[in-house]
Amino acid sequence: MVRILGIESSCDETAAAVVADGAHILSNVVSSQVALHAKYGGVVPELASRAHLERILPVVREACEQADLGYGDLDAIAVTQGPGLIGSLLVGLTYAKTMAWALGKPVIGVNHLEGHIHAVLLEAQQKATVAVATKESAPAIEFPVVTLVVSGGHTALYHVRREPLPNRGEAFRYHYRLLGQTLDDAAGEAYDKVAKLLGLGYPGGPVIDLLARSGNPDAVVFTKPHIRRGRPYDFSFSGIKTAVVRRVERNGLRAESEERAARRRAQLETPLEELCSQQTLDLLASFQRTVVEDLTERTLAAADDFEARAVFVSGGVAANSLLRKIFTEECAIRGVPVFFPSVPLSTDNAAMIAAAAYPKFLASEFADLALNADAALKLGV
Ligand code: KG4
Ligand code: ZN
Repeated sequence: MVRILGIESSCDETAAAVVADGAHILSNVVSSQVALHAKYGGVVPELASRAHLERILPVVREACEQADLGYGDLDAIAVTQGPGLIGSLLVGLTYAKTMAWALGKPVIGVNHLEGHIHAVLLEAQQKATVAVATKESAPAIEFPVVTLVVSGGHTALYHVRREPLPNRGEAFRYHYRLLGQTLDDAAGEAYDKVAKLLGLGYPGGPVIDLLARSGNPDAVVFTKPHIRRGRPYDFSFSGIKTAVVRRVERNGLRAESEERAARRRAQLETPLEELCSQQTLDLLASFQRTVVEDLTERTLAAADDFEARAVFVSGGVAANSLLRKIFTEECAIRGVPVFFPSVPLSTDNAAMIAAAAYPKFLASEFADLALNADAALKLGV
C-alpha cells in the first residue's frame, strides 16, 4: 500500500491528508481561514500566509495522527506547487520539502487544478473498491473526460485522457488539454463580489445559492458574455458583475445592502432572507441562473464536440445546488455520466493533492529540493 501525505496551502485553507493508493482517505484535515478574511470580503494574501505559518504544523500532525501513522510510515509527501497565492504556496511547499529532506522521503509537486480533478477520481475509485467488496456495481469512469474546474480562483475546462506508461507495470499518466478558461473573473469570484456588493458577506457562493431559491430567475435578463469567435469554451464573468452593480444603483438597492452589511458587522441574528427585498432575491436568482447556464452550456458543448465519455465538475462552485441540478438533468438527456465530488472534497483540501500524486509516485515522477512555488502554474497543454 502506498501512503502519501498531501499538503495544500494555495489560498485560504491550510490542509493536510493521508491517502492510500490514490483511493482511500485515511485522514483529511482542513483548517479554514474563512472567518479571518470574512470582514474584508475576500482573501487578504498577507494574512493568509501568516495564518498558514501558524496552522501548518498542527494540521500535518493531526492528519498523521488521524491516519494512525508515524511520519516514518509515509511513502511520499505531495504538495501543491501552484497556481495560487505565492506567499501561501511557499509555506506548504517549504514545509513539505523540509519534511521530505528530514525523513528521506520523496517529494511530489502537484498542480492545484489537477488536485480538483482528482477529487472526483478519488471518490470514484473509493466507490469502486466498496462495490467490489459488496459485489454491487459502481459506475466506472471512462475516458476521455471533459472537466470543468470552477472555484473562487479558477474557471477552466480540460480534456483529460488516461494512458498506461509503456513497460512500467501498473504505472499510468493523465494527459490534460486546456480547452478554455475565464478571460477575467472566475465564477466563484463573481459570486463573492456580488455578495460583497449586496452586503451578504464572504464567501458569497453558499449564501447566494440559498437566497436565490426564494427569487424569480426570470426577473432580470442579463446579456450573455461576448466571447471572441473561435473560442467557444472560454468564459467571462466580469460583465454580469458590472450589470449587477448597475441594477443595484438604478433600482435603489444600495441602502438595503448597506443595512445588511451593518447588521452582519453588528452580528445581529436576523436571517439574511428577511433582510432582502423581493427585488434583491430576484436579482440573485437571475444572476445565479445566468452564471450556471453559461457554465453548463459551454461545458456540455465541449463534451459533445470531444465525445466525452464522462463529465466532471469540481472546485468550490461545484457545491452549487442549481449547477448540480442542471448538469445532472442535461447529462442524463445526453446519456453521459456526470461526476461531482462530495461537498467536503469540492472545496480546497489536501486529499485531492495526495490522490493526484499517486500516479506520479507509480511513475517515479519525483521533484528534487529545488522545487519552487509557481503562482501561475499551468496545467496541461
Ligand atoms: O475551491 P475553493 O474552496 O477555493 C478556490 O480555489 O477558490 O472555492 C471557493 C469558491 C468561493 O468563491 C465560494 O463563493 C464558491 O467557491 N462557492 C460556491 C458555493 N460554495 C462555495 N459558489 C456557488 N455556490 C455554492 N454553493
Ligand atoms: Zn481550489
